[in-house]
Amino acid sequence: MWGGRFAEGPTAIMREINASIPFDKRLWQQDIAGSKAHVTMLEAQGIVTASDAQAIRDGLDTVALEYAANGVPVDLALEDIHMATESRLAALIGAPAGRLHTARSRNDQVATDFRLWVRDAMDGVLVGLRALQVALVIRAGENVATVMPGYTHLQVAQPVTLGHHLMAYYEMISRDVSRFSDARQRMNLSPLGAAALAGTGFPIDRHMTAAALGFDGPTRNSLDSVSDRDFALDYLMAAAQCSLHLSRLAEEFIIWASQSFRFVKLPDAYSTGSSIMPQKRNPDAAELVRGHSGRIIGSLTSLMITMKGLPLAYSKDMQDDKPPVFEAHDLLALCIAAMTGMVETLTFDAARLRQAAEGGFSTATDLADWLVRGADIPFREAHHITGAAVKLAEQKGCALDQLSLDELQAIDARIDDRVFAALSVDQSVASRKSFGGTAPEQVRARVEEARAELGIGG
Ligand code: ARG
Repeated sequence: MWGGRFAEGPTAIMREINASIPFDKRLWQQDIAGSKAHVTMLEAQGIVTASDAQAIRDGLDTVALEYAANGVPVDLALEDIHMATESRLAALIGAPAGRLHTARSRNDQVATDFRLWVRDAMDGVLVGLRALQVALVIRAGENVATVMPGYTHLQVAQPVTLGHHLMAYYEMISRDVSRFSDARQRMNLSPLGAAALAGTGFPIDRHMTAAALGFDGPTRNSLDSVSDRDFALDYLMAAAQCSLHLSRLAEEFIIWASQSFRFVKLPDAYSTGSSIMPQKRNPDAAELVRGHSGRIIGSLTSLMITMKGLPLAYSKDMQDDKPPVFEAHDLLALCIAAMTGMVETLTFDAARLRQAAEGGFSTATDLADWLVRGADIPFREAHHITGAAVKLAEQKGCALDQLSLDELQAIDARIDDRVFAALSVDQSVASRKSFGGTAPEQVRARVEEARAELGIGG
């Protein structure tokens, strides 16, 4: 019934389900680097002769040149990148190729290749995140005194500064940088030489191959070495959390760009029009960053579920570790680049932000605080008096600072005309000088500190 597409029945099905070459060909550079380190160690330990080792290294260089020029040929019969490379090596150099796999198994080989790949991926992400941090710090620095509404429950709460809001994302991205750096450090041990699962009887030097591949040393348990995918999970966890931060920022941009808010104009480069509604300017890039985070989080879930039921040591299920990591990495790199571009180029409408900050009785807390400080009224009572003032302003359809002194004194006789100074949004943000608060001077200090962290001049 289902055999039509298979020329050879079950054999072809087995070949198809078994093969990982369609995706693990992405590991070719790491596979060749790992093999060169391995054969050089075999030579140093007297396990293969100098001439065989040289023939193998030269042959691997040729294979690398071929892959770089033409891509990795996908032949399902060769199953994976390890077999494909070894088979091509044999075709190029003949008999010595057969000595490369001495004292090694595909189990430690793939664990090594994949670690090297994930390590490179982490380094790439760290470069991207730094660019995003720089963009956030620059835009925050331009806007330390730009007032905007601060929200809780997406209801106007208190005025904040735009610089403060952007620096909140700087803090999140800094934690992502810390998570990726931490994961990179933890994973940087070499599984090469664990062989199939038990180690090997050959007199290998695992410290030598570890050093050659830029690892801090060899892993300490051969069973764990071939069955551990924590490094990939660490990467995916950091990626999932980072994508969640990017998604939240994307969501802010989507809200801010909507007609009801009009806080920002997204650049043409990151928007699209509608094919039927000429007035539309859609924040597609931001929406896709928000959407892609779902797929990245899904990749983490996928690998966790792959791993959770596996006894020691290697099981073929583990071949499924690569697609989620590759997918998450490609999406994350794109999302970081898109968010960086948006942060760099979107235009803030400062007048509109101010107007919104002045609405919603955003300085009600400032009135209550003034009553405590200026009239020595206990905060709970001040809160109550402020509530009455908000109610009156709401009835009159005006802002708090548009109520007259007479009206305010009718609510509470202890109010005097000094109160008006406390009710402006500028005064409100300027007063919030507590460490980490939204006052321009606090935000400026944090921006300067962040510039120093990033090593960029003021
Ligand atoms: N293609 C395999 C993978 O990605 C390589 C390891 C195969 N090992 C084995 N014992 N079949 O996991």
